[in-house]
Amino acid sequence: MKCMRATGLLTAALCLLLSSAVTAGDPEAGKIKASTCMGCHGIEGLTNAYPTFRVPRLGGQHAEYLVDAMQAYKEGRREHPAMRANMANLSEQDMRDIAAWFAAESRD
Ligand code: HEC
Repeated sequence: MKCMRATGLLTAALCLLLSSAVTAGDPEAGKIKASTCMGCHGIEGLTNAYPTFRVPRLGGQHAEYLVDAMQAYKEGRREHPAMRANMANLSEQDMRDIAAWFAAESRD
């Protein structure tokens, strides 16, 4: 962590505080966390291999929209068994990181 290199107890404490709170999405962390999503969302033509069903494109969508959609699956406001299962273990920070990465992607 870059800021931890700064000297001073106060700075270190502030860094810890900031890194433990839910912060704006980090696309680099999101890229790693999104690797399990790519089996469905990363396939060219956007259809899942088997069973075949259409999967929405996530790249280039607004981060706020993506976080809201993920929360909706997790909470059951949106019904889809595969997506619900995939959201079950994600924290809000995970969702923000993943959304930041997809939002920055403009892959067609
Ligand atoms: C088993 C396949 C599968 C996996 C794995 C999967 N998804 Fe999905 N996802 C879908 C399908 C199918 C839909 C469309 C569901 C519907 O019709 O509501 C969807 C919808 C979404 C949506 C809503 C998109 C929109 O335009 O409204 C988001 C956001 C999303 N997925 C994120 C993720 C993330 C993040 C992961 C990884 C943590 C993930 N998905 C893993 C199949 C998958």
